[in-house]
Amino acid sequence: MSKFFPKICLSFLLVASTLAGCGDSGPKPSSKPNEQTARTNFKGSKFTVITSADNPPFESHDSANNQIKGFDIDLIHMIAKELEAEIEIKDQDFSTLIPSLDSKKADLSIAGFTPTETRKIAVDFSVTYFKGDNVLLVLEDSGIQSIEYLAEKKVGAQLGSTQAEIASQISHVVKDLQTIPYNKISEVAEEVKSGRIAAGILEKTAAENFSHIGTHLTIIPLDSRFSQPTSIAFPKGSTLKAPIDAVIQKLESDGRLEQLRKKWFGQ
Ligand code: ARG
Repeated sequence: MSKFFPKICLSFLLVASTLAGCGDSGPKPSSKPNEQTARTNFKGSKFTVITSADNPPFESHDSANNQIKGFDIDLIHMIAKELEAEIEIKDQDFSTLIPSLDSKKADLSIAGFTPTETRKIAVDFSVTYFKGDNVLLVLEDSGIQSIEYLAEKKVGAQLGSTQAEIASQISHVVKDLQTIPYNKISEVAEEVKSGRIAAGILEKTAAENFSHIGTHLTIIPLDSRFSQPTSIAFPKGSTLKAPIDAVIQKLESDGRLEQLRKKWFGQ
């Protein structure tokens, strides 16, 4: 990490209030996980994959078998199979993922990550594999029809997420909007349902998932300037990026990625 990173990080925090990847001061691991040279066969290797399993249909807990399931999970298994590697998936809070990569405690993170320029200071990203829209999740009878209706209201978003950044951007153009950060996306949905906050900012597929489960919730689309691509994140300089990029491109061109998107998003 460069000497000036904490300063950049701090000033960004002041502006945007939340950011995954800032402020990691935890102990460095004694050994670095899987330092690979550029190659395509990783037989015998085991990658530590971290995620935040609170983001259906990308990654969430499967109550039926105590496993983590989702589009990202199928994708990373497919990638591992292509590379003949094994993976171990660990669940942790979203806001801790980039700090963990930054201190090389994992080989990669798949968690519906948007590859932002600020995060690129701390981590590397794969080619993108999905493009998501963002929405407001509100109560059906809230009367909220667009971001202009959020003046003097409380809005929730996941701590360290790009949705929290969007809330911050909206607060510059909407009077007295208060952003409340939550550790888990499900908490944002619960808080909307209970009426404690007026709206949640969520990725559309996650919002649809929560609005189906809950009654009385509805979705207000945000315009396309709030749409965001999705990538896998790696520790800076990771030699896994090139082979994984190649596999994603292969899965895209042979139609398997498309099939996976159909399975999880029906699109
Ligand atoms: N795309 C958003 C971001 O990169 C949200 C990702 C949330 N992912 C999760 N597993 N909770 O910040």
